[in-house]
This record gives sequence, structure tokens and C-alpha cells, in this order.
Amino acid sequence: MLKAVVFDLDGVITDTAHLHFLAWRAVAQEIGIAIDETFNEELKGISRMDSLMRILRHGGKEKAFDHPQRLALASKKNALYVRSLASLTHESLLPGIPEVLAEIRAANVRTGLASVSLNASGILRALGIQQAFDFCADASRIACSKPDPEIFLTACAGLNVRPQEAIGIEDAAAGVEAINAAGMQSVGIGPGLDHAGLQLRSTRELSWKCLTDFWASRTVLI
Ligand code: G6P
Ligand code: MG
Repeated sequence: MLKAVVFDLDGVITDTAHLHFLAWRAVAQEIGIAIDETFNEELKGISRMDSLMRILRHGGKEKAFDHPQRLALASKKNALYVRSLASLTHESLLPGIPEVLAEIRAANVRTGLASVSLNASGILRALGIQQAFDFCADASRIACSKPDPEIFLTACAGLNVRPQEAIGIEDAAAGVEAINAAGMQSVGIGPGLDHAGLQLRSTRELSWKCLTDFWASRTVLI
């Protein structure tokens, strides 16, 4: 029986995935590394420091900065990113998200958040949806970034459901991998997520009916 739906935040609940990219691109440019949207796909779902390490490796500069310098770069990126969050309001929720969250609640199914962003609680506050989730995994207590399943397993434990009783929703390849590794059913939003159990083009296609149809089709197969 489906007992919980666990959401990623950046790129699923709101379009902050693009703001992360803009901030990283500015910092990377300052140190002579060019990154584009294609490379950015590899950063989705990856923690701040791990993202920086991937960018440095991409530019062949992983040895060029010591630890304090890397911390300074990550903090510069975060300052740019946080500044760009100032315009977030309830209107910044992606299409279909308020409706599907309400439908899940109405069906008495639990909702969770599994984001490795240390800015998650501020973003939920700006969007005015702190009350929409029964449990939000605390990114500061997570040791491993996606694709490790840790954050999804933590969300299921916090919701008091088994992973086999839950759906996870993600826009990142690493995130879908994490959901699958947790033993949950995965929904991928956007292109390039063939490893998701259900692939949707956008959050517009998310609905309680689509989630329950998907759940029924998967659990018959199992
Ligand atoms: C999410 C995003 C990543 C971001 C990570 C950490 O997983 O998809 O792009 O690097 O959160 O976010 P933070 O806000 O803590 O820098
Ligand atoms: Mg995401």
C-alpha cells in the first residue's frame, strides 16, 4: 500500500535548479572554468562541496585550491545563490505542485522532503509551504550526497514508512538513482531519466491519479 510520497526540492517543488546553475557558473567563470547547462545536469542533487569538486575536476583544477580556498569558493557561490532566492514567493511553486500536495494530503498519504540543500528550510518558508510536509530530512545530518540513498531512507524513517511503501519524485539522474537504491518507486521529472519507474515531462503532469495509477502498475508487477 502506498503510504508516503517523498519530494526532492530544487527542480521539483520550485525552479531553484536553474538558480544553482547561474551561481556556480559565475563562480566558475571567476576561476577560469566554463560550465554549461549540459554539465550542470551532473550537479543536480549533489551537495555544495561535492558540486565544487566536480567543477574543479571539470576544469582540470582540482589541485589548484586548498581546503580554505575551496570553502571560500563554496561560500561565494552560496551568497550569490541566496541573493537570487530573494524573489521567491508562493507563485514560484512549479505548476501542479500545490494541487498534488493537497491531493496527497486529502488521501491521507504522508508527504516528505528529501533535499540535500542546506537552504531547504528557508526556501520552504519563502514559498509558504513549511506545513505541506509531514517530515523534512535534515541535510546537515546527511553524510552522503545522492546518488547514495541515505537522504531518501532518512525521509522514509522520519515518516515511519518502509521504502517499499513510498514513491520518490526527482528531477536529477543522481536523485532517481538514490530513490531506486532506497527500494522506493521512482518518478522522474524531465528528460534523461530513463531509469525512473515513471517519467514525466513536467510537474504539470503530476497528479494523485497519475501517482496511484503508477503505483498500481508497479505493485502488480512485483
Ligand atoms: C540540491 C541541488 C544541488 C545543490 C544541493 C546543495 O540537491 O540539486 O544543485 O548543490 O542541493 O544545495 P545548497 O543550497 O546546500 O548549496
Ligand atoms: Mg532536484
